[in-house]
Amino acid sequence: MGAMFLTRTDRPCFFMCLAVSQLLFILLLYRRGASSVFQGIFGSYLGWDYSRTQDVYTNLSLFIPDPEAVRTQFCPARSPILVGPLTITFNKPPSLKKIQQKNRYVTSGGYFSPRHCFGRYRTAVIIPHRSRESHLRSLLYYLHPFLQRQQLHYAIFVVHQAGNATFNRAKLLNIGVREALRYDDWDCLILHDVDLVPENDYNLYICDDYYPKHLSSAMDKFQYSLPYWGYFGGVSALTPDQFMKINGFPNTYWGWGGEDDDIAMRIRLSGMSITRSPLSLGRYKMIPHDRDSGNEENSHRYTLLRNTKKNWKDDGMNSLDFHLLSREKTPLYTNLTVDIGEAPEMPTEASKWRLF
Ligand SMILES: *[C@@H]1O[C@H](CO)[C@@H](O)[C@H](O)[C@H]1NC(C)=O
Ligand SMILES: *[C@@H]1O[C@H](CO)[C@@H](O)[C@H](O)[C@H]1NC(C)=O
Ligand SMILES: *[C@@H]1O[C@H](CO)[C@@H](O)[C@H](O)[C@H]1NC(C)=O
Repeated sequence: MGAMFLTRTDRPCFFMCLAVSQLLFILLLYRRGASSVFQGIFGSYLGWDYSRTQDVYTNLSLFIPDPEAVRTQFCPARSPILVGPLTITFNKPPSLKKIQQKNRYVTSGGYFSPRHCFGRYRTAVIIPHRSRESHLRSLLYYLHPFLQRQQLHYAIFVVHQAGNATFNRAKLLNIGVREALRYDDWDCLILHDVDLVPENDYNLYICDDYYPKHLSSAMDKFQYSLPYWGYFGGVSALTPDQFMKINGFPNTYWGWGGEDDDIAMRIRLSGMSITRSPLSLGRYKMIPHDRDSGNEENSHRYTLLRNTKKNWKDDGMNSLDFHLLSREKTPLYTNLTVDIGEAPEMPTEASKWRLF
């Protein structure tokens, strides 16, 4: 093979390319730390066998202690009952009642705290929602035991958009963060799409100390790889500090698309970069569905993205405006129902040539 490439005419390019790629590699190492680069590049070939999966409720009962027991210690840094690849099927969404029965230690509002040790991490999961009740049930069925396996102290918040206006994912997430922070002193905010289910319980729902983390790096709908470099959609993890540093998410993206690229740009503009779960771990299954009505493609997103650099400091948590209609603690989650207003009229877009 080597000889084929090393014909006389190719040689200069070969060495040039080699030098350039080595330089790039060194730069990458410098920016991200060697281990994450190796995981990123080779991660998809390492370790996990996804043809052998375990039920997400496996051995969860080992965590159900003697009710008399008193917690005296912190949970171990790595939970002892993680199993890796999980069995996930979407045949028939389970009922809320069934999910409750299987998660007996989840308390009102979707709260859980390990019973036999003190959880080391406090994680709030925030899910933007409208008209996806069956997806929500599927997600809750898998997510509650997933988080318990990781021995997290956690709660699940569903931010429910009332009314018929166009869906606004990023604004709902901002609201979820503002409200969740009233309940607890969270270490980590997980911003979670309702239709994505994690496939490996070693993909921990905790934050990176330094940088925003993209957890859903490998979704089945993108053949378990990143659709493009810089992609930040799906499921992400930010500490409250990281979230405030980027002024939260934009409030101005109505309909499908663009807001995740805006968020990725905010991260760069505020001097941070994105870390990711390696591809072998950051695997998610998407619950199959048609495009929702009320969440049409946002045709203004390219215009908005061109202005992110100018606008991000004025559009976000510091300009968040909404009406909280109700705050209900249901057995499996806290339901925050909000009126977020309507998309403003925008001039139609003349040029859509710019690609992100
Ligand atoms: C479940 O727990 C039992 C007893 O500790 C152990 O032998 C078994 O390997 C565990 N199963 C899995 C899938 O971890
Ligand atoms: C939303 O749309 C439905 C059906 O199109 C209609 O019945 C309902 O009144 C609308 N609700 C609001 C708040 O506009
Ligand atoms: C949340 O509460 C509102 C108001 O009670 C209700 O209409 C909506 O269906 C609830 N959503 C979910 C996902 O429970």
